[in-house]
Amino acid sequence: MTAFDSYERAQWRGGADTFARTFAPLCAYPADALLDAAGVTAGSRTLDVGTGTGTVAALALARGAVVTAVDADSGMAAAARSAAPGAAVRVGALPALPFATGAFDAVVANFVLNHVGVPAAAVAELARLTRPGGRIAVTIWPYPPPRLQSLLGEAVRAIGAAPVALPRLAAEHDFARTVAGLSGLLAAGGLTEVTGRQLDWRHRTTVADWWAGAEGGIGAASVLLAAQPAATRDRIRAELDRLAEPYRGTDGVCAIPTAALLATGTVPG
Ligand SMILES: C[S@@+](CC[C@H](N)C(=O)[O-])C[C@H]1O[C@@H](n2cnc3c(N)ncnc32)[C@H](O)[C@@H]1O
Repeated sequence: MTAFDSYERAQWRGGADTFARTFAPLCAYPADALLDAAGVTAGSRTLDVGTGTGTVAALALARGAVVTAVDADSGMAAAARSAAPGAAVRVGALPALPFATGAFDAVVANFVLNHVGVPAAAVAELARLTRPGGRIAVTIWPYPPPRLQSLLGEAVRAIGAAPVALPRLAAEHDFARTVAGLSGLLAAGGLTEVTGRQLDWRHRTTVADWWAGAEGGIGAASVLLAAQPAATRDRIRAELDRLAEPYRGTDGVCAIPTAALLATGTVPG
């Protein structure tokens, strides 16, 4: 396991409830497009990798698919069992998952490849699990970050808080967080008919919920907050409120632009 994988594993541990309340609704947006891209319909043997609290698994079940889901974190797997009671949910981690070669018609991973230390090895594992002719579909966040994901870092900089080095992949394992970069990762893994696109939308959230996720240890921004003394965190929160103001509706909910990258490919026969 790489140092990045160890960091990620520790980050998610115990985070299922906070994730469900805060960032899971954000991750849910591309779920239907992801399942469409992977060709998931009634009867498809579908694997949801890094299922988290089970959003994608539950949607796949609603399509009539035969769903298996897996997550590295046992708390996430437990939450997925509740959200998607018809799915077979296991604990397991990329790049070595506990399933037979070619066992699935479709394999999806919603915002998971951005949490693994060796993305190429993860793609190879997704391909191993997919039958010849079956499809893989994945999403990640783009870089540079969209407005929503850049707000907290901007607030940290605006108040002059100490910069914090975020954990990064080893350079030799990293790839461009663009449509071309993600599609290239799938193509380099031997997939054919690879296509990619960017999905743009506005995420509706309160600043309180967005803050609760970061303060609760979810996402890279949480590393920035954890490194700050309490008084500094209060100033960052106030600055975040100010930055979010232009997006706030009369109901107090903000609609902030964000985006995801979606790529898909076929496992050769
Ligand atoms: C951003 S969450 C996405 C959860 C879910 N796919 C969704 O869309 O709501 C990332 C998930 O990937 C899981 N994860 C992180 N590293 C993993 C790995 N190496 N193998 C499997 N799951 C992993 C985390 O535990 C977490 O549940």
